[in-house]
Amino acid sequence: MKIFLDTANLDEIREAAALGVVDGITTNPSLLAKETGDPEAILVEICETVDGPISGEVVATEADGMIKEGRHLASLHENVVVKIPCITEGLKATKILSGEGKRVNMTLVFSPTQALLAAKSGARYVSPFLGRLDDIAAPGMDLVADIIQIFDHYDFDCEVLAASLRHPLHVVEAARMGADIATMPKSVFDKLLKHPLTDIGLKRFLDDWEKVKAQLAAKAV
Ligand code: E4P
Repeated sequence: MKIFLDTANLDEIREAAALGVVDGITTNPSLLAKETGDPEAILVEICETVDGPISGEVVATEADGMIKEGRHLASLHENVVVKIPCITEGLKATKILSGEGKRVNMTLVFSPTQALLAAKSGARYVSPFLGRLDDIAAPGMDLVADIIQIFDHYDFDCEVLAASLRHPLHVVEAARMGADIATMPKSVFDKLLKHPLTDIGLKRFLDDWEKVKAQLAAKAV
């Protein structure tokens, strides 16, 4: 499973990218609004930092505007993926942009039928928002499972990008189900590696090794 960070914060992106396991980045208008500076410049800087798909979202709500914005975003850097909301106008825009060879990430997907239409319109990625479904007491993981099951029957060139992940268990479940990608905030990413038994075990190994060194030093005297 590919791991994407869901952030527009360059410090977070640089720190995580240094580990060598970050495959791409998703941004959205809310995430960019948290940062200072020109959003386009930030997007380009992100593309220069992580060599993978970097989603930048359109804010137009009519197909013509989405297409114009999408073409512009895609022209900023070869890594840019145009993120388009899963609405009627978004579908029209996706058909045109994907026909031009631009990669589209269809976002704000909350039902299997939306995912099916997104894939049929040529979206390269489809983003079911698990956490926001969980927030309204609807099991978000069930949506991912449904989409994967549906896509398994066909030949869509569309990856399932599990989004709106809130904790490591979402990541585990997405991986168990075979989601192609999981995008997560840096706070969730940081928790993936941490385990207290690893820290305790390492400390014990190092303490014991110090004892060996002390014995060897004592013998050498
Ligand atoms: C994905 O592309 C979205 O930017 C993101 O996952 C939304 O997550 P949220 O529901 O935590 O805002």
